[in-house]
This record gives sequence, structure tokens and C-alpha cells, in this order.
Amino acid sequence: MGRPTYRLDQRKAPFLEGLVQYSIDGVIPFHTPGHKQGRALDPALRRALGDKPFLIDVSDEISDPHNENDSAAVLLEAEALAADAFGAERTFFLHNGTTAGIQAMLLAASWWSRQKSHTSFSERLLEDVATVAVPRSVHRSVFGGLILAGLSPRFVEENWDTEWNIPLPPSSKAWQAVAEIDDVVALLDTYPNYYGIGGDIGAIARYTTAGRLLLVDEAHGAHFGFHEALPPTALSLGAAAVAQSAHKTLGVLTQASFLHIGEPGLDELMSVVLSILQSTSPSFLLYASLDAGRRQMALEGYKLWQRALEMSQMARDSINRIRGLRCLDEEVLDKPGAHWWDPTKLLIRVDGIGMSGSEAERHLRQAGVQVELAGLNHILVLITIGDGPKEVDRLLQALRELGTARTHDGKKHLQPIPKTPSSGKMVLSPRQATLAPWREVVLGEARGKIAANSVTPYPPGIPLLVPGEEISDESIEYLRGCWQRGIEIRGWAHPDRKTIWVVDDD
Ligand SMILES: Cc1ncc(COP(=O)(O)O)c(C=O)c1O
Repeated sequence: MGRPTYRLDQRKAPFLEGLVQYSIDGVIPFHTPGHKQGRALDPALRRALGDKPFLIDVSDEISDPHNENDSAAVLLEAEALAADAFGAERTFFLHNGTTAGIQAMLLAASWWSRQKSHTSFSERLLEDVATVAVPRSVHRSVFGGLILAGLSPRFVEENWDTEWNIPLPPSSKAWQAVAEIDDVVALLDTYPNYYGIGGDIGAIARYTTAGRLLLVDEAHGAHFGFHEALPPTALSLGAAAVAQSAHKTLGVLTQASFLHIGEPGLDELMSVVLSILQSTSPSFLLYASLDAGRRQMALEGYKLWQRALEMSQMARDSINRIRGLRCLDEEVLDKPGAHWWDPTKLLIRVDGIGMSGSEAERHLRQAGVQVELAGLNHILVLITIGDGPKEVDRLLQALRELGTARTHDGKKHLQPIPKTPSSGKMVLSPRQATLAPWREVVLGEARGKIAANSVTPYPPGIPLLVPGEEISDESIEYLRGCWQRGIEIRGWAHPDRKTIWVVDDD
């Protein structure tokens, strides 16, 4: 593959350059933000961050005579360079993370389906009738997006891996089974999932007929387009829109994401939707980091990811030689639903040394290493272009010491997670349930009621109840089992009283 060729001059970073030039020009800012290029700062904050970030943390102002110093025009130029680098029809910079991108994609899908519909005007105005096909394990921002857009989830059956205690992508057959249901207006997949495992997006894209959109949460895959040993991007496989948390895997500031559009015509709608959802005062620091991160990837991405891939392989081989530890390998591709795999994610099983994931996380932290997440029997470590031999050696050293810190307490946390009950009936849309009156009920008395809020055990982090869903005996028993095992449950109305929020339909 080597360095790809681009249409535009990828050596440019107009947004970063325009901001730096503004500070060099020494313009006196009689405009926001109030810290006035750092002069109004609390001294402790200045000591913590230094002067430089504040010199370019300005709003609306930029120096670029070529664009008449118009920051909106410079932003368009920077976004066009990103679209070229990522292979999109159009790219938007996001300053509220992929969360905003997912919400925007869902709002746009709702509008898109109404515009393409051949039904009467009054039918097109109906709310809460359309559905989006999603795996149950989607990120919670998807439920936020469904609430905003007045859409309901239509869950696609996914696979659960009992060996690693992680969700696996739904099979393409499972997508096909829902893709053509009349009320489905879009398909939304997470590609890859948190563990770097992706389903067959190319096949799923082929099921999006009759104006349906394939929307992809590629939060963990902003690096995919820059090395052939990484999975292909969802855009290249036919997605209509893709949100990427550039901040998760690239050299970019937290909260900065990309929203790439693949479907011609969808960009105009997206631009309107984003102006509704996002702050009117974007952090230009975030935008400058997206601009610079894109340039770095376009010019040096291949070389940098080559090194990160080598680091990951070396770490994986070493971890697999540590007694009691096991690191997921490309064997994962034999598992149901798994079609692509990102080798820079190190998913490490620690139950072989008698520890739960969270115990291992605590021990590693004491040894000066922090992992990305801890599951029932595993921890997840991310390797990016920011990791070199020194960091990876520290990780390996800490993992070798982990065996000696073994405790037998871990065993009690290692009872397998019971099989998640099948999804309950969606009696209301998530939006109707969220906007309806709520009341608090003790979990044991919630049978037959409608959940008003999501309730999610961690691990595995998959919502057991979503707003609008009828609560079954099975779900109540499952949650009871989780809390008896010490599994954290998020979404209680009051954790001490073991109550949840339900729709008050009395
Ligand atoms: C799969 C997935 N999607 C979406 C998000 C939201 O991304 P952001 O933090 O950029 O808003 C996350 C964040 O953890 C995620 O893991």
C-alpha cells in the first residue's frame, strides 16, 4: 500500500496555520474568549497548561488573507482536506465527539427517510413510527440519538462470546433478517466494537436498499484508512455516514471527532442537523488538532501505524509467553460474526492467574500502568502511534509482576456472566418513554411496567433495559443476579433503595 495519493495538497493544515498566524500577528483580541489569550488566567491553570494553548484558543478569528481571514472558509478548506484523506464526499469536524456525530446521523436518517418517502404529507409528519436496526451493545449515545430523532431501535441479534466475555458483531444474516422490514429506515452498526472486532460491513451495505442508510459508529477506527494491516474503513465498504472519534486513536485532542459522509446529498442535511446539536462556540484547539492529526495521517500514517503494529505484535507474543495470561489473536476471525480485527487492541485474559479484570486493573495501576477497560475476565490495552518500546516494556514488566500479585479473591468475581435475557417488547419509543411522566419503583415490583431510563450492568456494558421497553421477570432476575455478584449497575433511580424509573401510566 505505502503512502496513498491524494487529490489535494495534504501538506497543508490551514486551520492550525491560520490560528498560529493570528497569535504571531499580535492582534489585540477585543473578543471572546474572556481569558484574552491567557492574560486573565488563574496562575495555577497557567502553570498546569503553559501559555501556548491560550494564544490559539480564540473564537471566530483566524489569519488567512487567502480566505479573507474568514474562519468559516478556513474550516471548509480544512474539512475538504480531511474528506480527501479519509475518502469521503464531505467531512465535518465535530467538537462534541462521536456522540454528536451519532446523534446527527440518526436525526438526519429520520429526516432523510421522510424526504425520500412517497407517502402523504401528513403520514410523513408522523413521529415515533420508524425504526433503526442496531445491535443491543451499541454505545449509549445511540439511545440518546434515537430519543432526539423519535426513532425506535429494532435489535439485531448479536453473538456473545463466553470465552472472552465480550459481545461479537451480529452476523450478516442477522442484519439481512431486519434490513428489509418496512419500518426500518436505517441500519446502524458499531465497527469495530470496543475490542477492535468488526462485522461484515460490506455485506451489510448491500442490504441497504430502498433509500435506507447504513450509518456506522467507527469511534474506535479513525486510523483504519492508513495501513493495509488494519481493517478497511466503513466508508470504503459502502457506509452512507461514519462518525470517528479521532481523539481515541489518533494524535488529536479529546472530544475532537470526524463525521464523514459517503452518500451524495446527505451532507446538506447533516450540516443543518449539526448546527442544531453542537455548540456555536467550537474550541478552535480541537479543530486545529483535527487538522494536524489529518495531515500527520496523510503524510506519515503508514509509517507510524507500521511501528504501532509491530509494537502490538511484539507485545502480544510476549504476553502469550507469560504464564496464566492470554492475548486475543487473529483466531478471533473464526468466531461468529467476526469479519475484521484490529491487531492494535490487546485484549488480555487474566483469569488464568485467578484474577478478575478489575483486580488486574488495580494491580497494574499500582505498578504505574493504566488500562483502557477491565471486563469480567479480561483487560483491554490500546496501542497507538504514541507508544514506543519504553512504554510497551513497562506494560510487559507490569504484566509479568501481575502473576506474583495473584489473589484467590478473584475467583469469586469470576462466575460467568449469565446469558442476557432476550430484548423485551418496545411498548413506547425511547422518546415517548423519556418524555412521559416517570415514577420510581422497587426493582422487584417492576414486572410489566415500561422502562423510562436505560439500566446497564458493567460489565458487559450492554443495556438490559432501554426506555420504552416492557420489563420482564427475566430482566428483573438478571439484574438481581448482577447486583448479588457485585457487578456495577448504572441507571438505578436510587442505588440504595434498588429502585428504577418506569413510565407512570396510571
Ligand atoms: C463505541 C463507541 N461509540 C461512541 C462513543 C462516543 O464517542 P465520543 O466519546 O467521541 O463522544 C464511544 C465512546 O466511548 C464508544 O466507545
